[in-house]
Amino acid sequence: MTVPKFKYINIEAYRPGKSVIKKNTNYIKLSANESSLGISPKVLKIFKNKNLITNRYPDSKSKVLRMAISKHNNCDFNKIICGSGSDEIIQMICQLYLNKNDEVILPEYSFLMYRIYSKIVGAKVRFSKENNFKISISNILKKVTNKTKIVFIANPNNPTGTYLSKSELITLRRKLNKKILLVIDDAYYEYNLNKDYISGLDLFKSSKNVFVLRTFSKIYGLASLRIGWGYGDKKIINELYKIKPPFNINYFAELCATKAISDKQFIKKSVSHNIFWGNKIKSNLENYKIISNEVTCNFLLLNFKNCKISSKLFMKRLIDNRIIIRSMEEYKIKNCLRLSIGNSKENKYLLTVVKKIFKNV
Ligand SMILES: Cc1ncc(COP(=O)(O)O)c(C=O)c1O
Repeated sequence: MTVPKFKYINIEAYRPGKSVIKKNTNYIKLSANESSLGISPKVLKIFKNKNLITNRYPDSKSKVLRMAISKHNNCDFNKIICGSGSDEIIQMICQLYLNKNDEVILPEYSFLMYRIYSKIVGAKVRFSKENNFKISISNILKKVTNKTKIVFIANPNNPTGTYLSKSELITLRRKLNKKILLVIDDAYYEYNLNKDYISGLDLFKSSKNVFVLRTFSKIYGLASLRIGWGYGDKKIINELYKIKPPFNINYFAELCATKAISDKQFIKKSVSHNIFWGNKIKSNLENYKIISNEVTCNFLLLNFKNCKISSKLFMKRLIDNRIIIRSMEEYKIKNCLRLSIGNSKENKYLLTVVKKIFKNV
C-alpha cells in the first residue's frame, strides 16, 4: 500500500535512565540527577490550593515567572524565554540557527539532547576530545570550520561533573569566532561552589553571542512540570518567540516555578546537603578504588578502572538491592557509571549496600 512518506532521521532516540526494573518493587532512583530533597515547602502549599484555574490558557509569555527570574537573577526581563524544560529551548535554538550541513561542536561526553536536536535539523555534529573527562578548549577550537554555527557546553558538564573556570570560559569565548554562538548550559550551576567557577549567566549577561540555559528540573525539584528558560540577546529572543509553541508553559508549572525561585532557604539547604553527601559518598567509594570527579553538581561519575569489579557488575549488584544508577553505555564512557546524590536515607542505604557488595567479592 502506498502511504505518505516521512523523513528518515538517522539518530537514536533519547533513552532516559531507568526508573523501574521490575514492577511493584520499591526502587531507589539515583539515575536522573533529580532533586534529592524534593521541592520547597512553599511550592508544596500550591498543591493544596483548590482554586487552580484550568479552563483558561496560560500566559504565552510567562510574564509573572520571567519577572521573578529577572528579579532573582538580576537580569533583563526582555532577554528571557521560557521553555518546556531547557530541553525545548535547546530544540528551538537548533531550529533557529541550523540549516542542513551546518556544523555544531560538542564535547565528546555531553548531554545527549544537543546532538539529537542538532541532527534532527540536518546539522553535522563534530565531537571535541576531552582531557581526563574535562572539556578541552583547544580541541573545540581545532574542530571549528567555516560551517560551525554553534558550540554547546554544559558547565558543570553532564555526565562528567567537570567544569571550565571563569578564565577558561573567557578564553573560549575570546578565541572562538564571533559569528559562532556559544551556548552555556547552567543546569547544575547552583551546586558548584568552587571559587574559580562562575555561571554562564553571571559571566555573559550582556553578550550578544552567548546564549545561556537554565532549568527548574534540578535543584528546584520541578522536573515533572517541564520548565526551564533561556537567556540571550534580545534579537535572538525575539526570533525564538516566533518558533515557540504558544502555550508551552502550563499555568501550574509557572506558578510553582515562580514560588520555587523565591525560596532561597530551600536552595541553600539543598546545596549543603549535596556537598556533604557528595563528599561523603566520594570518599567512601575511594576506599574501594572507585574514583570520581570533585563535587560540582548533584551527581558523581564513578570510574571503575582501578576497582576490583567492573562497573557492569557493580550496577547489577545495586539493582539486586533495589538501587538504580545510570549506565554510561549511551554516552560511550567505558567502565563508568553516573550516580545521583540522593536524600540522607537513600545515601545511607547506598553506602550499606556498597559495603555488602565488596564484602562478597
Ligand atoms: C546539562 C543538562 N541540560 C539540560 C537538561 C534538561 O533539563 P530539562 O529538564 O530542563 O529539560 C539536563 C537534564 O538532565 C542536563 O543534564
